[in-house]
Parts: sequence; C-alpha cells; structure tokens
Amino acid sequence: MFKNAYHGKKVLVTGNTGFKGSWLTVWLLNLGAQVYGLSNGAPSEPSMFEALKLREHITYFEYDVNNLKAVVDVVASVQPDFIFHLAAQPIVRTSYIDPVNTLATNIMGTAHVLEAVRLSNHPCTLIMITSDKAYDNVEWVWGYRETDRLGGKDPYSASKGGAELVIKTYYHSYFKLPESKVRLVSVRAGNVVGGGDWAANRLIPDCFRQWGIGETVEIREPEATRPWQHVMEALGGYLHLGQQLSVRPELNGEAYNFGPMGEKNYTVRDVLEELRRNWNFEGQEAPVRYVEKLGFHEAGLLKLNCDKAMFDLKWHTILTLEELGCLTTNWYFQYYRDAKADMFQLTRDQLEEYAQLAAERGCAWVS
Ligand SMILES: NC(=O)c1ccc[n+]([C@@H]2O[C@H](COP(=O)([O-])OP(=O)(O)OC[C@H]3O[C@@H](n4cnc5c(N)ncnc54)[C@H](O)[C@@H]3O)[C@@H](O)[C@H]2O)c1
Repeated sequence: MFKNAYHGKKVLVTGNTGFKGSWLTVWLLNLGAQVYGLSNGAPSEPSMFEALKLREHITYFEYDVNNLKAVVDVVASVQPDFIFHLAAQPIVRTSYIDPVNTLATNIMGTAHVLEAVRLSNHPCTLIMITSDKAYDNVEWVWGYRETDRLGGKDPYSASKGGAELVIKTYYHSYFKLPESKVRLVSVRAGNVVGGGDWAANRLIPDCFRQWGIGETVEIREPEATRPWQHVMEALGGYLHLGQQLSVRPELNGEAYNFGPMGEKNYTVRDVLEELRRNWNFEGQEAPVRYVEKLGFHEAGLLKLNCDKAMFDLKWHTILTLEELGCLTTNWYFQYYRDAKADMFQLTRDQLEEYAQLAAERGCAWVS
C-alpha cells in the first residue's frame, strides 16, 4: 500500500489527538511508520486518542503550535521524513466565540510548522491540511477548483484561507528553490465522517453523543448539503499524495481538493437516515427532532471540484452512502454498547476492510 513509502519512516502528525489525527496515526502504524505526535492535549472528552490508548503506540509531544520554540525543537529533534499538519481550531461556531485564538492557531500555527521545517534544513515531505472552507464561498452551484479565490466570511474560514497564503509564501520564498530539501502541498477536504469524532457542534458527534445515552438529537437545517466523505477516504488521499509528492517533484507547491464526486452531495437528512438504520434504538421513539437554525452565519452550499486529484493522482472516493453510514454507526455502537470493545483493533479492522474495498474498486494507492 502507498508503495511502502511510510514503512520505517519518521512521520510527525500535528493534531494527532484529534479525530482525523487519531485515524491517521492508526493507519500509519499499520503501514509500519514511526509515528510522532504534536498537539495541545485531547480536544474532547471522550476522545478517540484516549479511547484507543494511542499514547502507548507513539512518541507524543504535548505543546501548543502557537509556541514557535516548542515546534522548532520538536521538528529539530525528530527530523521527520513526513509531516501531516492537522493541528487547528476546527469549529466554525467556536471561531465566532474566540476569533483571535482561531486565527492565531490556524494561521500562525501553520507558519510555525513551516518555519520549523525551514530551520531544520532536513529533507521532509509536508502535507498541510486546510479545509474546503478556505475558499471564498460565494454560494454558487459549481464546485470550487484549486485556482478559485480563497478567504471566507467567518473567522474559521478566514483562518484557513490565511493558512493557505502562508503555505504559498513558504513555497515561493523557500521550498521551490533548487537547493530546497522540502516539498509541500496543501489539501482541502470537506466534512469528514466516521467513528471517533466527539467535537462539539458537529452533526455526527452530536447524534452519537445523544443516542449513546438514549436521548433525542436536535438537528438544524436538514436540507443543507455537504460534500460528506468517510474520514478514511480523505486520509487515503493524503497518504497517497504524500507518497506521490516524495517521488514527483512537479507536485511541489500544488493544492488538492479531496471530496466526493459532484453528484454525491447528500443532505443532512440523507446522512441521518443512514446512521439511524444501523443503530438499535430499543423502543426509543424520536431519535431526531428538527429545530430552528441558530443566528450564526454558516455558508450553505459548498461543493468541491475534485477533478485535479482524479487526473493527477487517480484518486477518488469509493464508499457508498450506505457503507459510510454502516462503518460510522458500527464504530460508535461498539464504543457505547460494549465497555470491553477494543477500539484500537476495531479501527484497524475498519481500515483493513476499507483497503480491501479499495483494492476491489481499483484505487491507485493500493499497490
Ligand atoms: N473534521 C472535518 O470534517 C474537517 C473538515 C475540513 C477540514 N478539517 C481540518 O482537519 C484538521 C483536523 O480536524 P479534526 O476534525 O481532526 O479536528 P479535532 O478537533 O478533532 O482535532 C484538532 C487537533 O488539533 C489540536 N490542536 C488544536 N489547537 C491546538 C494548538 N493550539 N496547539 C496544538 N494542537 C492544537 C488538537 O489537540 C487536536 O489534536 C483541522 O485542520 C481541520 O480544520 C476537518
């Protein structure tokens, strides 16, 4: 898988205690990588990081990415072959409450990781994770392409657009020079779904938190569409891109969208129906209640055009909505209904199942 690019390699994951970072850690461990993590603690209670006891499997540095010296020291001591930068304040609603911390963490945190790599002067392949919200969302019907204008109206979206500008300047100022030993890309994915997310104010975690204790979940905007994909689909793209970037210099400095094909923008209601299907409610009458939306501005329609990832990397999503729902619900159901469940092993099993489906469905990264 991934041409064995990660086997025996030192891989630093920032944001390793988070939802995506935890899944990425397990996948990298499966691939035989030495995994290092940098985060400022688990982002939620419970958290996937703690549920899987990931601290036992990696070298973990508990620091704030706003602390330049700490980030520089970690990168200098680890000298990673690959960095996946995921550490961020990732919630739109939180960004309204604490805009300065969101802007600092997401923009300057990104600058600190890039500066640490520049100073370490060690060969490194960098995958910088921003977001689909990095685009200036003008609420048109077309999918955003990598060349579209960046920047958003809310502080989170602005912070991700800002991170993209920082990545661009480090590429043009340092990493595209012939003597540079660093290659980098930025990746923009939309909402990812899967077991193990407990972030506040996110639809899927809100559902399972409530269903896990037999309560009804309140849902706003059931007809809103999002480019939903399972977290394994996006991470497969990140890992594939990291491997490709390490052997294809022409990808240096590029940006890639990772998301489902345009026609697969399902509504909140569609996704909820799939999640409900696999949960045993044991007579609970109303697992979902639809309520009025809040006053925060959160952009409605947002689609990604992923033709570039398809064309350059032969990457595409493979799971149906039914499969996405089934994998997600099964993960949470085990967690909430079986106190003895080995969630590390269950996550490994889901990654194995996904890799088998990817092989059957002709994914480029399987070999
Ligand atoms: N989950 C999604 O649907 C989604 C969609 C688009 C983009 N993203 C991006 O993917 C990345 C990971 O998202 P996630 O869903 O795993 O979020 P998460 O909240 O589960 O994890 C965030 C991680 O960042 C770390 N972090 C936050 N502030 C930090 C700081 N100041 N210093 C050090 N570490 C800090 C947390 O400890 C945690 O490890 C983020 O950059 C997010 O913006 C996520």
